Amino acid sequence: MLIALKIIHMFSLFAGGAASIGNGLLLKKVIASNAPPPPMVAQTMSVIGKIGFGAVILLWLSGLGMTLGRHDIAALDWMFWVKMVGATAVLVPVTMMTAIALKAEKTGTRPDLKRMKTLGSIGRGGVAIAIIFGVLAFN
Ligand code: HEM
Repeated sequence: MLIALKIIHMFSLFAGGAASIGNGLLLKKVIASNAPPPPMVAQTMSVIGKIGFGAVILLWLSGLGMTLGRHDIAALDWMFWVKMVGATAVLVPVTMMTAIALKAEKTGTRPDLKRMKTLGSIGRGGVAIAIIFGVLAFN
């Protein structure tokens, strides 16, 4: 079971990272073009965003499962808690981006792209912290 959780954790890391890089690059192009993206690009970005959000939720669920099932939480050192700060700095902006995108889709309006870009950058910083301190904590 714990091995399955770790496999889910790693696949989610892959899917979340791919979604973040893919949508980050597309967003950069959309902002630079200063025009609404073609529907095909907008739809693809929406799907990639949902994959990214799902991946972050799976990272948290599998991570919590492994923490509670495999480790003594009181014995985990500060590096684990820095990893948690990083993981939170992923969860919060990605959730906000998903909410902004869903609201824009619902109302047919254009999301605030600069805000999306800033939130995406915060999320990528969080991923870097979570990966580095995840590896250090469990080395
Ligand atoms: C963006 C979020 C996250 C990223 C990028 C991430 C990244 C990683 C990486 C790279 C490892 C492998 C470390 C190694 O085995 O050397 C790992 C393992 C682990 N992660 Fe995460 N993680 C995230 C979220 C979480 C969360 C939210 C939790 C707990 C609530 C968590 C708990 C764990 C645990 C317990 C392991 C070690 C599993 C074991 O015993 O082998 N992770 N994570």
